[in-house]
Amino acid sequence: MEVATWVYAVKIRLLVKADLPALEWEGEYTHFRRLYADAYERAQGGRSVLWVAEYPEVGIIGQLFVQLNTEWTEMMGGEKRGYIYAFRVRPPYRSSGLGTRMMDIAEADLIRRGYDVVTLNVAKNNPKAQQLYERQGYTVVSSEPGRWSYIDDKGMWQSVEEPAWHMEKRLYKTLNGQGD
Ligand SMILES: CC(C)(COP(=O)(O)OP(=O)(O)OC[C@H]1O[C@@H](n2cnc3c(N)ncnc32)[C@H](O)[C@@H]1OP(=O)(O)O)[C@@H](O)C(=O)NCCC(=O)NCCS
Repeated sequence: MEVATWVYAVKIRLLVKADLPALEWEGEYTHFRRLYADAYERAQGGRSVLWVAEYPEVGIIGQLFVQLNTEWTEMMGGEKRGYIYAFRVRPPYRSSGLGTRMMDIAEADLIRRGYDVVTLNVAKNNPKAQQLYERQGYTVVSSEPGRWSYIDDKGMWQSVEEPAWHMEKRLYKTLNGQGD
């Protein structure tokens, strides 16, 4: 894909607390306020890595969260796996190569951290996103019912049912620890 020139002006960096309100857009994602606050706390504790894309003069136009697996899994002899979620780019900025750039940066960071595999879930009714992940080297490994719940900004439990494909990609490392 040809990357639009403006994409190179976008800074992909770690989320700071002051960015949290911008993740709610114009209210579309206010219901995820607690979820975002919890993700921020986990990042403070080193259990996740939260990326945002900041376009100078515009603000936050994209986000990609990575959940790092727990020490417990590692102690059990399992592989180190990172899980990508809450990945979105604001509509006017889509299909220009920004999302791909964000994934590349998140994956390179996982490689630096010594991770072996990166996983994600994509809704079965989102073939466009699935196509992007396939292009990025992810393959479907299982089918998930996609049932989960969260507490919204008003303190109410909300249930979500979104059948999904679980996809994964093996991260390749070179001797100097950089991606290839
Ligand atoms: C998925 C998403 C984060 C990718 O960011 P992006 O900046 O558009 O990504 P890129 O420009 O690098 O890649 C473009 C590809 O993303 C996919 N894509 C584009 N628009 C999309 C949309 N509205 N929804 C889902 N995927 C989309 C397509 O495969 C597209 O390829 P194409 O342009 O050849 O059709 C972004 O499109 C988005 O926010 N979509 C809506 C939310 C979503 O579906 N998130 C993923 C949940 S698993």
